Amino acid sequence: MKKLFLVSALLPAVMAFSQQHGGMWMPTELNEAEMKKLGMKISAKQIFDPSKPSIKDAVAQFDGGCTSEVISPKGLLLTNHHCGYDDIQRHSTVENDLLTNGFWAKNMNEELPNPGVTVDFIADIKDVTTEITAGTQGLSGENLEKKINQNIELYKNAQKIENYQKIIVKSMYYGNKYYAYIIDTYKDVRLVGAPPSSIGKFGSDTDNWVWPRHTGDFMLFRIYADKNNKPAEYSKDNVPFQPKHFLPISIKDKKEGDFTFVFGFPGRTTEYLPAVAVEKIMNETDPAMISMRDAALKILDEKMRTDDATRIKYASKYARVANYWKKWIGEVEGLKKSQAVQKKKQYEQQLIAKNPAIKPTIEQLNRLYNEQAPYALNRAYYLELLRNAETLTLANIYLGYLQNAKDGRADAQYLNRLKSHLKSFYKDYDAQLDAQVTAKLFVLYTEKTPKEFLPSGFKNDFKVSNQNTILESMEMFFSANSIITGRKAFNGSTVYSDIDKVFSDQKALLEALEKDPFITLMKDLKLVYSETTESKFTQYQTQIDRLQKTFMAQQMETDKERRFFPDANSTLRVAYGTIKGSDPRDGVKYNYQTHLKGVMEKYIPNDYEFNVPQKLISLYQNKNYGVYADKTGEVPVNFTATNHTTGGNSGSPVLDARGNLIGLNFDRQWEGTMSDINFDPRFSRNIMVDTKYILFIIDKFADSKWLIDEMKIVK
Ligand code: ARG
Ligand code: ASP
Repeated sequence: MKKLFLVSALLPAVMAFSQQHGGMWMPTELNEAEMKKLGMKISAKQIFDPSKPSIKDAVAQFDGGCTSEVISPKGLLLTNHHCGYDDIQRHSTVENDLLTNGFWAKNMNEELPNPGVTVDFIADIKDVTTEITAGTQGLSGENLEKKINQNIELYKNAQKIENYQKIIVKSMYYGNKYYAYIIDTYKDVRLVGAPPSSIGKFGSDTDNWVWPRHTGDFMLFRIYADKNNKPAEYSKDNVPFQPKHFLPISIKDKKEGDFTFVFGFPGRTTEYLPAVAVEKIMNETDPAMISMRDAALKILDEKMRTDDATRIKYASKYARVANYWKKWIGEVEGLKKSQAVQKKKQYEQQLIAKNPAIKPTIEQLNRLYNEQAPYALNRAYYLELLRNAETLTLANIYLGYLQNAKDGRADAQYLNRLKSHLKSFYKDYDAQLDAQVTAKLFVLYTEKTPKEFLPSGFKNDFKVSNQNTILESMEMFFSANSIITGRKAFNGSTVYSDIDKVFSDQKALLEALEKDPFITLMKDLKLVYSETTESKFTQYQTQIDRLQKTFMAQQMETDKERRFFPDANSTLRVAYGTIKGSDPRDGVKYNYQTHLKGVMEKYIPNDYEFNVPQKLISLYQNKNYGVYADKTGEVPVNFTATNHTTGGNSGSPVLDARGNLIGLNFDRQWEGTMSDINFDPRFSRNIMVDTKYILFIIDKFADSKWLIDEMKIVK
């Protein structure tokens, strides 16, 4: 308390310890007392119990990224529309455009299989710090890391697990603790229902990361298991999975102050970085990445708006690129506004005052981050170039093939994987459109990159000083010289029409690829990058990581008043808070809830972001809401709360005091997206789809009462 008092003289209401109000907690180590004080009516054991059915048995990681939850005794699975977006895109064509029209199976036979999609449940979590750090006393650096990895392998091999299970060991607090996870992976996951994009993605990129929000971002799948209810590969003989627990769905009205918790798989946060690291993100790497994506998105957007085939091809890719582009913009603003760097600096001084051993840690971190900065910046540009300039992405894939062939590693299995990867790449690739993107980003990259980080012969092929020349010369290559862009035929076929045929004469193909202009370009670029930038970056990063472990331990030893949670690392966590609006700016007050009338307020007929389906308009006009309206007489659509969430929490169940589902997490509000680095309870809010809206759409819009009948509704 005394400490809080001291700093409050220097800073507005919220202290360096604002994270105290956030947190993504291990489900095995919950702050039960505080949760109950906020209103929770169940016990921590009911949330996570490895030996008895508990809420965790209804929560699963969806396809390695998002979260999902089981909402019926027949394995019905709820997640976000944007989490299943790739799957629905894969089932879509211009003629049968499920993205635009939505999809609703009328019965189980109509559910669509999604090969490759997996759903992971956590069977158990164990603190294995003792086992993993055994025999590491006195070791440091590489020797320590080697020993730890050996211990992890030893531990994993010693465990008895079922053939459908796997174990992973995760480091927490930057290597100060280790936890083991036993995971059940289900592989037969079928698409059951998806609203049209004009509901599931309503507001699209304009509204993304923004409150007030009106998006029905949900989608339904079903998990299938073998006859013994165990995970199995897809088979039409599989049966609907019977979960140990499924979530009852509440359609009670919500009010501000109600307790909520989010149970899911947050991907990555970095809440314990030194001030200098935050400064670099805010002033250097985030702006660099933003500028590259800015350029790419503008070019794509123009064509997507006018051409349907391009829109479908690029829909998912565009959304993914735009998503973090916009998040970083919000993050930079939020870091500034929440004075994250100053707060961290002050916090560091307070820590040093209590524990002088922290001083050298901070000083070294400052030095390392400053020395690393030019490499980190170039790396940011390079990775964005490689990701967004698709022709270079392609060239890099082929470069891998050339290398593997040289090393004798291009066996049949590798080739099959490569060909199927390429087939799906070409399915969604428009060489002509990308010529513009690649040229533009390439110019930007060369402008932003110090000479010594660029290949010396560069200017021979592409005159960096003159943008038109680059564009022209690139387009020339696109139209004539390159096999990989599909403009030049090979073996009587092109990469678009028949990959198998192109690959049928490998010897000749390898020779031709060696001479491909884009592969040559990529090779030069990559070589210089890895020699000048990557190696240096990694050298520094290794040292930084080791020091960060020390710094983390020092923070935990020194700041006894703060409750620490491990940074998110795609493991199962619980965040809790209350339903709440916010006052993000002077003169602006956000309500905690939006309604269907707000959808209609945003409606722009036939707009690709704000169109509203006719049927929803009729339901609205006739006030045909059934049991799904709230006390205002309207159907609630989205709401906000103070839960600390991040990427990966999408699709997470949001539960009430009794463990009933009240919302589906899908986003955060713009003013608070710096929560990955500096959670600030004044601005950081998670955004959820109201369960009433989800059920309303399933019931009234999609006429899929058979799904509602499977669920347990709490009124
Ligand atoms: N911002 C949310 C999240 O990070 C939703 C993204 C999907 N929507 C989009 N327009 N890209 O994933
Ligand atoms: N939209 C994010 C997700 O996909 C959630 C977030 O970043 O708040 O996981």
